Amino acid sequence: MPSTLTAGAIVPTVDLVARAPKDTDYVVVGVTGSSEQPTLVGVPSEVDKASPAPLAQIARDLGAKPEAGKVCILPRFGSQLVAVGLGIDELTPEQLRRSCGNALREIAGRAGDSSLHVVLSLETAESELVRAAIEGAVLGAYTFTKVGSQPKRPIEKISVVTSLGGAPAKQAVADALAISQAVLVAREWINAPANLLYPESFADEVRQITKGTKLEVEVLDEKQLAKEGYGGIMAVGGGSERAPRLVRVEHKPRGAKNHLVLVGKGITFDTGGLNLKPADGMYTMKCDMSGAAAVLAATRAIAELGLSVHVTTYASMAENMPSGSSYRPSDVITMYGGTTVENVNSDAEGRIVMADALARSQADKPDLVVDVATLTGACMVALGNRIAGLMSSDDATADILLDAAETAGEDFWQLPIPEHIRKGLESKVADLKSSGSRMGGAMAAAAFLQHFVGEDTAWAHLDIAGPAFNDEAPYDYVPTGGTGHAVRTLVELARSLQD
Ligand code: BES
Ligand code: MN
Ligand code: ZN
Repeated sequence: MPSTLTAGAIVPTVDLVARAPKDTDYVVVGVTGSSEQPTLVGVPSEVDKASPAPLAQIARDLGAKPEAGKVCILPRFGSQLVAVGLGIDELTPEQLRRSCGNALREIAGRAGDSSLHVVLSLETAESELVRAAIEGAVLGAYTFTKVGSQPKRPIEKISVVTSLGGAPAKQAVADALAISQAVLVAREWINAPANLLYPESFADEVRQITKGTKLEVEVLDEKQLAKEGYGGIMAVGGGSERAPRLVRVEHKPRGAKNHLVLVGKGITFDTGGLNLKPADGMYTMKCDMSGAAAVLAATRAIAELGLSVHVTTYASMAENMPSGSSYRPSDVITMYGGTTVENVNSDAEGRIVMADALARSQADKPDLVVDVATLTGACMVALGNRIAGLMSSDDATADILLDAAETAGEDFWQLPIPEHIRKGLESKVADLKSSGSRMGGAMAAAAFLQHFVGEDTAWAHLDIAGPAFNDEAPYDYVPTGGTGHAVRTLVELARSLQD
């Protein structure tokens, strides 16, 4: 499956076992109890027997703690044990995901060129926990490959010690692998530099990762976009030598009733256009296609898992560049469907390319529309780097998204779309303007988008500007660079919409 730009999205093989196999490279065990009295769970009996002193005491002397995610390497008695804190409170799937992420990040960092067999021995019995352990491990082991070098495969195999068996066990593994693989694909695309991943090559990538699935892919190039009236995508993409694309992917299983439309922002690089960004703000803007990466990768996982829901996914791909053919501040753009927009600031390009796709999606008669975008710096100011914004047509729809996010283990926080913010988008020269005052910028962007969805459509907008890209040190199962935020929530959402 991996294509040229997603070659590093390799998931290990995973099996479930009743007890820890011998001759493996690392065994991850848990630390619980209290900070003063840490106890170990999951230690294989032969390791316990080989240890000259009680292992829990050795672990305590080496500083093992039950604090969530804290990793401690124990001395080797047969197998190399890695003790990871499972937290003081009751173990949730997300806590386990984080703990396994920390453990595997540590192990992958020690791997060198070898390919390791790692055992997760954490006494997990429920399918949600088994799934979370695998997801955390796979996501935590990932690192970006240097451009041009062979992708590393630090972890070749993961064995999970569990009493879970039968169909729920198989399903837990299948879910975890399809979802983690999709997250890794999104990360690879986000991490790919913009000279390699641009609208045309991004669209080719979509064709590649959907090969062998039943997904239908349609790519509109700049000629078709112009002919069919996609004025927003054409305006934003017009400043670049790399022409824009609109990609449409459809998952239509027989008998599926609910129709979910996903729309992603695919700005392969955001310079700000004629409203050029300062150097510091521009550097990470290869990540501005993270919304498109998330909806496309999630759609692949939904197809792979055969979820019984009709999904139509759009990715608006363009590069926002300053040039003689750029769209200007004060230009009036005629969007898909005829709405006119006064462009206030060419750096507010995301909402303009999204609006065309949202307007187009009305013809699909969706039951629910969800868009995902690295849309506003304002959302980062409001919610920081680890929590995404959620804005919605109504609270019932917001709750469906928040429930899916909670199950998936991703953080979202709802913001309103107040009437006075909508009013701030009134224009003297067009139907509306692309941005209002600087205050409440995340809500204003949402108000703009909703104009193109229509008041009567159930719709949610996910502003992932903060969590899409981690430009600091890695933590838990989150690496530096592209994170794949929203992929897991979208797959979970599709699962919840099955009938
Ligand atoms: N892609 C940016 C938003 C962004 C900023 C994402 C930082 C990730 C990290 C977006 O296109 C943008 O520039 N938004 C402007 C909108 C403004 C001009 C109305 C912003 O937030 O400043
Ligand atoms: Mn911008
Ligand atoms: Zn942008």
